[in-house]
Amino acid sequence: TQKIILDTDPGIDDAMAIFFAFQSPDIDVLGLTTVFGNVPVSMSAQNAITLVDLAKLNIPVCKGVARPWIGPESTYAHFVHGDDGFGNINFPQAKGELDPRSSAQFIIDMAHKYPGEVTIVAVGPLGNLALALRLDPDLPKLIKAVNIMGGSAFAPGNVTPLAEANIWNDAHAADIVFSADWEINMFGLDVTYDIPFAPTFVDDLAKANPTLGGFVAKASQFYMDFYSQNTPERVCFFHDAFPLAFMLQPDLFEMTKGHMRIGTSELDRGQTAFAPIGSTQSPLWLESKQVNVATKVDHAKLTALFTNTYAL
Ligand code: BDR
Ligand code: CA
Repeated sequence: TQKIILDTDPGIDDAMAIFFAFQSPDIDVLGLTTVFGNVPVSMSAQNAITLVDLAKLNIPVCKGVARPWIGPESTYAHFVHGDDGFGNINFPQAKGELDPRSSAQFIIDMAHKYPGEVTIVAVGPLGNLALALRLDPDLPKLIKAVNIMGGSAFAPGNVTPLAEANIWNDAHAADIVFSADWEINMFGLDVTYDIPFAPTFVDDLAKANPTLGGFVAKASQFYMDFYSQNTPERVCFFHDAFPLAFMLQPDLFEMTKGHMRIGTSELDRGQTAFAPIGSTQSPLWLESKQVNVATKVDHAKLTALFTNTYAL
């Protein structure tokens, strides 16, 4: 099995991804580390506890950074995820305890406990990873890979024309994470926004797994209302599950290697500017970090993977 830490801000597509990871026999979730993003961090941590409880698991949940690396407190995305982060379904919150460690400390501890074995799957703003890098400069050589949902190499952003929400929310943290010397696989709007899921997809998840899929189907209604505002048909996107699917079936994805730089000025905040290998001779680019960016995904097979895994 593959050991992961899921760094998350639940969040409706976060919940969908968390349950997908829990259901995957090939993935061993060492813990959930939470961060501000869709909702404030106290809510994202409590929501993570509730999801772990619903899945009847006993894994650590840590609370992480509450604010961006630089700049004012975030504005959050309640208009996408509801007041509760779960689409206003009034779900009873579980009483579980938080792990006493911060998210950054948990990441460091697991990296040292299982050197070379842990993949960080980051599906929220990147502050916990940036802080962990600052606290422990050895981290990159201990971590197997960092699989990120965030950014948009070729597609337009979803917060600004240049920037996707997870990167925009903490652009300076993203810059630190994307510059560190570890393997990065990025799953941005290039693939997660490419083809929408039909609303029947969540019904299929609910049929496959009435408890976990049923929760996702209920919570997704508000989320689909948001995503369907400007589309003739009702649609849904499950961004955060993509980097996990890559771990299970990498052959579903086309990956492009290139140089990446993160925008941190007011004008380009959160931009994931990308130059595929061979596309530039500029020294500025050639010096910058190489990452793997997902540029295409087999949507039919991906959908089947999600549904079949929920059914296990
Ligand atoms: C990302 O932002 C959040 O709203 C989602 O949970 C996802 O991680 C998509 O831009
Ligand atoms: Ca998220």
